[in-house]
Amino acid sequence: MNMIIAPSVLSMDFSKMGQQLEELNASKAEAIHFDVMDGHFVPNLTFGPDLLRGFRKASDKFMDVHLMVTDPAKFAETFIRNGANQITFHAEAVTEEEGVKLVEEIHKNGAKAGVSIKPGTGLDALKPYLEIVDTVLVMTVEPGFGGQAFMEDMMGKVRALMIYRDQRDLQFRIEVDGGINGETVKIARESGADMFVAGSYIFKYPKGIAAGVESLL
Ligand code: DX5
Ligand code: ZN
Repeated sequence: MNMIIAPSVLSMDFSKMGQQLEELNASKAEAIHFDVMDGHFVPNLTFGPDLLRGFRKASDKFMDVHLMVTDPAKFAETFIRNGANQITFHAEAVTEEEGVKLVEEIHKNGAKAGVSIKPGTGLDALKPYLEIVDTVLVMTVEPGFGGQAFMEDMMGKVRALMIYRDQRDLQFRIEVDGGINGETVKIARESGADMFVAGSYIFKYPKGIAAGVESLL
């Protein structure tokens, strides 16, 4: 699968969002990653559907919404209505029955569906979803904050997912999120990831955002 770079809104300079969104639009990033945190599922608060609607108005990029919330089913539809192309929820936040129902609901509302696991969660939690989701998001940091160090020991999960997918001829993307930079992107790519969220690396790249995206490809 081709590589998709998804810069994370969490690391934008919030005093220059319009300008930085223009730079993203002009870059080779195929997606924009939108981290939604509720202060319960993770110890941080970010933004909601209204900000996403603003982004949607100003960009044609694929909006990749990562719900780090305790009750993803409550919010999925609202985010889709406001411009999400993909909704990713956490396996830890739902029962198997709720999760499967949520994937169906996301698809019914016209978006792609992703499921994510935190570093401490094993692959078993993904089993109910691998045949039905479009993306599996393997967290490579503890969710909640940008700027943390990449956890290389998560690559075992990425490798196992790639093998599982290829053996069964499934189509889901394998996305990694957290600590991606010019070095770790290679490690994740070699392990089998094909979608890469990057926050601080891209927005602090000395030659600018578009060059930062390009340096990961
Ligand atoms: C962490 C978020 C990430 C974060 C990545 O909870 O899900 O998307 O913004 O940021 P960096 O690339 O700085 O680790
Ligand atoms: Zn994220």
